[in-house]
Amino acid sequence: MEKAEIGLVGLGTMGSNLALNIAEKGHRIAVWNRTGARTSEFVAQAGPLADRIVPCATLEELMAAIEPPRPVILMVPAGRPVDEQLAVLGPLAGKGDILIDAGNANFHDTQRRTREAEGADYAFVGMGVSGGEEGARHGPSIMVGGDPASWHRIEKVILDIAAKYEGEPCAAWLGPDGAGHFVKTIHNGIEYADMQMIAETYGIMRDGLGMGAHEIGKVFEGWNRGRLNSYLIEITARVLATDDPQTGTPVVDLILDKAGQKGTGRWSAIEAQMLGVPATAIEAAVAARSLSAMKEEREAAARIYAPPAPQAVATAAADIVAELELALLAGKIAAYAQGFAVMQAASVEHGWNLPMATIARIWRAGCIIRSQFLGSIAAAFEAGGEIANLMVAPAFVEMMNQAHPALRISVGRAALWGLPVPALSSALAYFDGYRQARGTANLIQGQRDFFGAHGFERIDRSGPQHGPWA
Ligand code: 6PG
Repeated sequence: MEKAEIGLVGLGTMGSNLALNIAEKGHRIAVWNRTGARTSEFVAQAGPLADRIVPCATLEELMAAIEPPRPVILMVPAGRPVDEQLAVLGPLAGKGDILIDAGNANFHDTQRRTREAEGADYAFVGMGVSGGEEGARHGPSIMVGGDPASWHRIEKVILDIAAKYEGEPCAAWLGPDGAGHFVKTIHNGIEYADMQMIAETYGIMRDGLGMGAHEIGKVFEGWNRGRLNSYLIEITARVLATDDPQTGTPVVDLILDKAGQKGTGRWSAIEAQMLGVPATAIEAAVAARSLSAMKEEREAAARIYAPPAPQAVATAAADIVAELELALLAGKIAAYAQGFAVMQAASVEHGWNLPMATIARIWRAGCIIRSQFLGSIAAAFEAGGEIANLMVAPAFVEMMNQAHPALRISVGRAALWGLPVPALSSALAYFDGYRQARGTANLIQGQRDFFGAHGFERIDRSGPQHGPWA
């Protein structure tokens, strides 16, 4: 029987969709699932694509069905299940075989698994896949980390199944070991910040301007035709426009205001902290999700603290909404600048040599944060020269100069209205901190030296100094 080009383990929704995508692009794929019944069901539902799918009852069968060197994609929940799968699959893999973790792994796990694979016979690839179920089925954005030889073996399949932006595949090899999963983690961190800032503008419209879900949905629909055009703005408009069939109420008004999180946003914030890179909008977004989960505490506090007295608003609602659009743009620039700064620092720290322009390019389609805006980021990195921070790249300086006054006004207004805008306000503080030539850390240094003789540098003398504290 003709051998399969690739194998896949784990036929959950993501795994099934990825397998169908691979088969649809003309590649023969061998599949295995922990429960055999799911494998049969999957093949039965694959329609004409079933001809290119080789169902396997055992992992031995799976390995025997693939053309060596054999690549096998693991699409199992992140964490322990990946290690368990590797423990059984590893011994069946021979020299040159490639085991690919396509889940949302913590890159530290990917680095460890890469080291463990070196002691075994196979190669390990950590592959970040973004785009949700639809993306997996019709074209995700794919961020690959591993050794170049493994990449060359899987490159054709991966480029074929990836989303295309103006014909260019949204998939790339980004560097060794954990590089792909790290980039996917930061993608998610940015996704958190993006979503949070969108939710904050929604909050100002809902609670500050008293607008209804449909009306706000129309605003996002309009924004999606402008510079904020992106998948997240598009789906926000759609979520806000959708009514609950039973009650006729906008669904969003029926959804409990407690956000879930699986860990990637938190990992982004942790890694940023570990690298000493400020990623305040991402951190604020993670914290906001945690605060959202404290529903009962918030309800109790709401009974203690009344909201601030309503302020007379001189500005027309339409103008406030127009300011919010620009505020969101400014916040977004700061948040993306933070995400890319974290990746630049990690690249140096781990010796990955991450290709920043390529990362922006493969995020233009397929992934959750896909947008036009990423095209501008790619262009900024492609323009050459060292970019210390996206906010100082010429195209973004122009955008920021147009947008930051509106961010300032929107954050100020939200504060007076008692509406929390943690991501937008921290984005503004980051921008203001970054563009301030003389900050206030001189006082911090004075305090540190006062209580702990930690020393400081002086502006008028070189070498470590101490203050003449009494
Ligand atoms: C993607 C998404 C995907 C997933 C996240 C959501 O890029 O396709 O980011 O990875 O939806 O796991 O994460 P939370 O559950 O933490 O919001």
